[in-house]
Amino acid sequence: GTRRSVVVAIDGPSGSGKSTVSRRVAERLGLAYLDTGAMYRAATWWALHRGVDLTDTGAVAALVRDMPLVMGVDPREPGVHVDGQDIGEAIRETAISAAVSAVATNLEVRAELGRRQRAEIAAQEASSAFSQGRGIVAEGRDITTVIAPDADVRLLLTASEQARLARRAREVHGSDDAAAVEATRDQVVRRDADDSTVSQFLVAADGVVTIDSSDLDLEQTVQAVLDVVARTADLH
Ligand code: DC
Repeated sequence: GTRRSVVVAIDGPSGSGKSTVSRRVAERLGLAYLDTGAMYRAATWWALHRGVDLTDTGAVAALVRDMPLVMGVDPREPGVHVDGQDIGEAIRETAISAAVSAVATNLEVRAELGRRQRAEIAAQEASSAFSQGRGIVAEGRDITTVIAPDADVRLLLTASEQARLARRAREVHGSDDAAAVEATRDQVVRRDADDSTVSQFLVAADGVVTIDSSDLDLEQTVQAVLDVVARTADLH
């Protein structure tokens, strides 16, 4: 087709379903997909792999500036490679989840990864190797506010704390019984509190549409996002 490019920016806290929803939306619209949280996780993996002390902010920033990171942007298979190594699974391990806030709150790291994110978004607006149309769904914590404040569609995907804890417990422990939810609480609540010191993603910025997925299943949430995209961006 000849449609113009579209950029969809989606922010939200842990357990909001943001990654799964963003991938599905990108697939449906035939757009590229960028998981910016995976970039912070990759930076954390690389620093630990190279034995850099995460509290040494200058050393971590220097390492990340030269990090040979390749982010896959196909929503059907968004691979993450550093220095040729496939780290798609390694970055989901609890050691990374526990350490990533130290890297994500490093302002020099944010500047570097932010540059790479803006470049990827611009590249996908200009042309796209695999997708049906030009454009991208980019998700994270500061995409609607810092990285792509001019995106065609800006969404905050939220869910109640209870719903977010239950989802994370099912992901990590395969169950949402009381013990599994409690085991997840520290990770989800503390990490969101730490992360929100550098970017405010718990409240929608001006012009950002909020979708509360607490009472929606995955398909309903995807549909709610697609409805906003259809209303906001003229895709045809
Ligand atoms: O969404 P996630 O759990 O994969 O995010 C990993 C970490 O990176 C988490 O601590 C939040 C942080 N993050 C960020 O600070 N800015 C982004 N744009 C995306 C993620």
